[in-house]
Amino acid sequence: MLIRPTLERDIQWLPDIERSAAQAFASWPALAWLAHGDVLDFDAHRAFVAAGGSWVAEHAAGHSVGFACARLEGQVMHLHEISVCQKAQGQGVGGRLLQRVIDEARQAGVGELTLTTFVDVPWNAPFYARFGFAVIDEGLLGVRLREILANERAQGLEGRCAMHLCFNR
Ligand SMILES: CC(C)(COP(=O)(O)OP(=O)(O)OC[C@H]1O[C@@H](n2cnc3c(N)ncnc32)[C@H](O)[C@@H]1OP(=O)(O)O)[C@@H](O)C(=O)NCCC(=O)NCCS
Repeated sequence: MLIRPTLERDIQWLPDIERSAAQAFASWPALAWLAHGDVLDFDAHRAFVAAGGSWVAEHAAGHSVGFACARLEGQVMHLHEISVCQKAQGQGVGGRLLQRVIDEARQAGVGELTLTTFVDVPWNAPFYARFGFAVIDEGLLGVRLREILANERAQGLEGRCAMHLCFNR
């Protein structure tokens, strides 16, 4: 399994990977509707790739089974999405992708890596916590993360939290 920057030719596969990844939610009744939710379109992926904020997990056979995309926002890197196709989940691919994003954030010299996720879904907040991410108390949320969570709530996503991993600089 190779984790590498996403190339233009990979983009065609990424929406299908995200759709397949979302099937994980089909077994979670309150969130089952997410299994058929919207995914990032080609233009959104192109923008992440152009900014150097997209990585794929390439299977030995030469096809991608997962991706992560993140953006720099001042002194912060924000993980926008991480998805591993359903068949490849639970085998450490997501962990390797997440570790790559953490390494990239550290190398970029940012103060923290942030994300928003579901508090109670086992492959969401608990997964990130194992990599050192901590939930940010609501009272300590800055405008940026507060807006992201409000937008998510407006789309029907409840039970979300913001997490961050801080780097010593
Ligand atoms: C989140 C995601 C990228 C992780 O990818 P992955 O390849 O499965 O990740 P890993 O195999 O490295 O680790 C997944 C962890 O979740 C746990 N997990 C997965 N499904 C689980 C379940 N149904 N119940 C309990 N734990 C579960 C695994 O046990 C594993 O824990 P570990 O770190 O102790 O081994 C993948 O599950 C996914 O694409 N999910 C759908 C999209 C999504 O939720 N993205 C995150 C948005 S915030």
